[in-house]
Amino acid sequence: TRTLDLAVIAGDGIGPEVVAEGLKVLDAVLAGSDVDVTTTPYELGAARWHATGETLTDEDLAAIAKHEAILLGAVGDPGVPSGVLERGLLLKLRFAFDHFVNLRPSVLYPGVPTPLADPGEVDFVVVREGTEGPYVGNGGAIRVGTPAEVANEVSVNTAYGVERVVRDAFARAQARPRRKLTLVHKHNVLVHAGHLWRRTVEAVATEFPDVTVDYCHVDAATIYLVNDPSRFDVIVTDNLFGDILTDLAAAITGGIGLAASGNVNPTGEFPSMFEPVHGSAPDIAGQQKADPTAAVLSVALLLEHLGLTEQAARIQRAVEGDIAERAGATTTRTTSEIGDALAARVAG
Ligand code: NAD
Ligand code: IPM
Ligand code: MN
Repeated sequence: TRTLDLAVIAGDGIGPEVVAEGLKVLDAVLAGSDVDVTTTPYELGAARWHATGETLTDEDLAAIAKHEAILLGAVGDPGVPSGVLERGLLLKLRFAFDHFVNLRPSVLYPGVPTPLADPGEVDFVVVREGTEGPYVGNGGAIRVGTPAEVANEVSVNTAYGVERVVRDAFARAQARPRRKLTLVHKHNVLVHAGHLWRRTVEAVATEFPDVTVDYCHVDAATIYLVNDPSRFDVIVTDNLFGDILTDLAAAITGGIGLAASGNVNPTGEFPSMFEPVHGSAPDIAGQQKADPTAAVLSVALLLEHLGLTEQAARIQRAVEGDIAERAGATTTRTTSEIGDALAARVAG
């Protein structure tokens, strides 16, 4: 018997609603198999912060670190100052567990509504750097609130950090049929960081001679994502560009309700964390309106990461089937109805 030991951080807003469906589908896909799953919930997010003023303590981190992987819903709440939970909880987890590969696949499944008139075949993955860039909090402000205010957010890019994510992206490109890697940056303006990224890609490329290398500036990348997305296979990019591009990538492949992600620590030193690309969606929270598919697909990424590829593939197929059926449907389903439908498909 294989045991799976997961930490679950449902979080805020629609987080608990979509995570419930993710766990429902996880149970269904493992039912009757020789895999036993234990899930340990961690009460983190707005409620905890209001009650105790804490976001994520050292004790929380130490406890979460003991699990094999983490499933997260979303964090962020209109009643908490912006940045407190995002930085103090979500980014703290990504940094503490050295999630340097933020993996965000985008596939346009048959029958999925897309705003694109002529999308072609869309199947790419964004390898977003997860521990550096402007996210590190290297900045500050002076004379705040005065006309002389200066506010800095410094983007940190280290040779070590860039090289390890670029090498990971090349390896992923190598393993895909099209073997193409596109660096997205803005080296015409961000010359320091941009040239580091470019030189690193050139250097690592010599180790992967059968991977085709391409480059585009991030502004142009937004054009191509809309008018020629099939040109992309693996995109490697920094933390902030990757954040922005993957919301756009979600929008062209059926919407944010379908986009899953993995915050991966490829060394295995720390647990990797899987979560929908979307946030806590306060505008629809508590109404059973959220699409839990992104959370369910995040469970599939988690299973794949832990080597349970057959179960991951079954979830994938269940989602594809459900999506194909949605196309012609006129009724809108609740969050839990979608979860039920997916659970039934993986079981059956
Ligand atoms: P958001 O992703 O929460 O919402 C953007 C839009 O997408 C909203 O209209 C929302 O209703 C819709 N949406 C999101 N998920 C959906 C789903 N599963 N089904 C249907 N519609 C869905 O982004 P935002 O509004 O910019 O941020 C809201 C809060 O979430 C903020 O506090 C932000 O910091 C936080 N946030 C957290 C994460 C995370 O935890 N990983 C990610 C992004 C934003
Ligand atoms: C995401 C979110 C986070 C990010 C925020 C909430 C810190 O937008 O996971 O895409 O910017 O990485
Ligand atoms: Mn984002």
